[in-house]
Amino acid sequence: MIQSQLPFTLGITSPLLDEAMAVLQQKFNVRDLSGYRDADDLIEKARGCEAIISMLSDSFDEKVLSALGRHEQTPLKLLCNYAVGTNNIDIEAASRFGVMVTNTPGVLTEATADTAFALLMAAARRVREGEILVRSGGFTKTGWQPTMLLGQELCGSTIGIFGMGRIGSAVARRAAAFGMRVIYHNRNPRNDGPYTAVDFEHLLRESDIIVICAPATPQTRHRFTLNEFQAMKSSAILVNVGRGEIIREKDLALALQKGYIFAAGLDVYEHEPLIEPLLMDMDNVVLLPHLGSATRKTRMDMTMLCIDAIESVFSKGTIPTNCLNYRP
Ligand code: DGY
Repeated sequence: MIQSQLPFTLGITSPLLDEAMAVLQQKFNVRDLSGYRDADDLIEKARGCEAIISMLSDSFDEKVLSALGRHEQTPLKLLCNYAVGTNNIDIEAASRFGVMVTNTPGVLTEATADTAFALLMAAARRVREGEILVRSGGFTKTGWQPTMLLGQELCGSTIGIFGMGRIGSAVARRAAAFGMRVIYHNRNPRNDGPYTAVDFEHLLRESDIIVICAPATPQTRHRFTLNEFQAMKSSAILVNVGRGEIIREKDLALALQKGYIFAAGLDVYEHEPLIEPLLMDMDNVVLLPHLGSATRKTRMDMTMLCIDAIESVFSKGTIPTNCLNYRP
């Protein structure tokens, strides 16, 4: 089992909240890895770090993991991904080079479900267009109109959740409280809730709102393309807080343009942080900059989970409970 003396060098690829940085700096010898240009530069900056806190926007692929995990004097032993999704890390390569990988499950569930709901409500009730109308003086000019910016009613509608893990279940709880009927499609149907498992085609056909909460995997990549949008109701809303590559973004833009679906709300993007240019000019899509877990409390809780993992490995010599490639 790995044992190391504290303090050791902890690399961090992006500065966190001030209070989180203060806690990290008190405990560890923190090295700022932010602003690296490419994989070679990241490797150069991170040489000698025994643990790294990585962001979802960093790619820890085979090349990076091999260089850091096989470093002769101080190999990388632990990579704490500051996110629940780990599609930015080649976990199989990490295991091969002896690097433990952890993520931050649980603590960001409610914040991310809130983000899904914010997008869902904004898209259903045309919040973005209403804001623009008011700020541009349009509302002051015309005043209240009975046909102004009509949206979709949530109470009594059917929500279809694609990916019924922790975040999907938290979205379902909120939807039920709004008077919505909840159906879902999951890799493995779950029998532990009041909601109805359906096949994918049924989810597309029946849902008034679809919320994607699934992770990026080879099976979920491009699961939503023009075919799927054509199978959905023309009044439907699509929300994505999972991962961008689950949707073929060009097809979504086309579907919105052609009126195959009513609106969309996106927090994640196929080629993040790049966004399909067609979507940028559309009125019926709400775009957020991957804010899923962005609350002060959640981001602090995510930091504490990373600290717990580091202390498990380096002080206690145990495998962290949220380790994805070695068993505790
Ligand atoms: C994550 O942490 O993976 C999610 O994208 C939450 O924003």
